[in-house]
Amino acid sequence: MAHIEACDISLIYDTPGGTVPGVRGVNFAIEASEFLCIVGPSGCGKSTLLNIIAGFLTPSAGEIRVAGRPVRGYGMDRGVVFQDFAQLFPWRTALGNVAFGLEMKGVAKTERERIALEQLRLVKLENFARSYPHHLSGGMQQRVAIARALAYNPAVLLMDEPFAALDALTRDDMQRLLAEVWRTTQKTVIYVTHNVAEAVYLADRVLVMTPHPGTVKTEIKIRLKRPRDPLSVEFLQQQKELLRLLGHDAVRQAGQKE
Ligand SMILES: Nc1ncnc2c1ncn2[C@@H]1O[C@H](COP(=O)(O)OP(=O)(O)OP(=O)(O)O)[C@@H](O)[C@H]1O
Ligand SMILES: [Mg+2]
Repeated sequence: MAHIEACDISLIYDTPGGTVPGVRGVNFAIEASEFLCIVGPSGCGKSTLLNIIAGFLTPSAGEIRVAGRPVRGYGMDRGVVFQDFAQLFPWRTALGNVAFGLEMKGVAKTERERIALEQLRLVKLENFARSYPHHLSGGMQQRVAIARALAYNPAVLLMDEPFAALDALTRDDMQRLLAEVWRTTQKTVIYVTHNVAEAVYLADRVLVMTPHPGTVKTEIKIRLKRPRDPLSVEFLQQQKELLRLLGHDAVRQAGQKE
């Protein structure tokens, strides 16, 4: 059985100006421990889809199943990381942020601090446990957000362009770190990105969405050996293939965003 299944998912937003389609008829399945990237032109519905899988949005039609059970709202089997640096609680230290989910779960203080510290070590921030978010760089804050999402040990990690707001060098470091975290933890990951090179670096498989209102256009398996070398000929070929699948408009967009 697949770990996550999206069965004919559509969502229509109700706005004061009328209805706006978010996504339409999305179908896919992911195996346990698979790293799936979702790419597609801006506004096609990637964030909408991720929010439906997280349980923050209810689809107008269709169903998400995680481990065979229909999603009926947010659950602690799914950790979520967004693009926005402001996702951390500013009044809590890095440790306090990471421990938050465990606190909600009723884990005792010493135990939750031990687990939180372990997660901070995984993202190489154990020396910043007592720092507040505004004393940390953007990349460090995103690492805290990843540690926080992992702390209560969800089977699934959902990530929406978590490194998009970082400078290119920091983003490369973060991608390497995430690949390592995924190898260590074996989570099932769904990762939304605009960045084709990022998808080729991280994914086992990439779903390519159509322009708005988005649905799955096609998918491509990335069979390159890990750790991957972004400068290798095979990597660049794979990147080119993915850009081709995205179509000309998306190629231009990706070029502009880099
Ligand atoms: N809260 C909302 N209310 C109304 N329409 C919305 C809302 N959020 C998104 N939409 C619309 O739904 C469509 C999909 O938006 P979504 O944010 O999911 O796209 P995206 O693929 O994540 O885009 P980007 O790559 O720019 O982040 C867009 O047309 C958008 O205008
Ligand atoms: Mg988005």
